[in-house]
Amino acid sequence: MNFNNLDQLYRSVIMDHYKNPRNKGAIEDGSMTIDMNNPTCGDRIRLTLDVVDNVIKDAKFEGEGCSISMSSASMMTEAVKGHTIEEALHMSQEFSNMMLGESYEITDDMGDIESLSGVSKFPARIKCATLAWKAFEKGTKEEDDQ
Ligand code: FES
Repeated sequence: MNFNNLDQLYRSVIMDHYKNPRNKGAIEDGSMTIDMNNPTCGDRIRLTLDVVDNVIKDAKFEGEGCSISMSSASMMTEAVKGHTIEEALHMSQEFSNMMLGESYEITDDMGDIESLSGVSKFPARIKCATLAWKAFEKGTKEEDDQ
């Protein structure tokens, strides 16, 4: 597959997550609720997680934002489900490396998130793509503070 085809494939994956978001909504009685906004545009996300014995049993998101932020939240919630907090934090680190144009490793169980790799070429959009991941990281830090 040449780069143009890959680009088109990635674009259609992103649009599919934007138009048919996975895990949209809120978890009633979730164990973690995190609000996060993108300071550059004001768009917001609310992430709710159900964590049992350190494993993310369920993850949902609400919010309004651009196609990059919403598709990324959809992919992120899919990727972290069934994983431990530490595994999900590792995914977040790899995603961040990908956004920074550094070497990264995306494993099959991380789903579609590699389709956002092209965002690294558009620095103004990186905060859109990392919004859901940053919300997750913030939630784990708040847990630690308690
Ligand atoms: Fe607001 Fe992308 S423009 S999150």
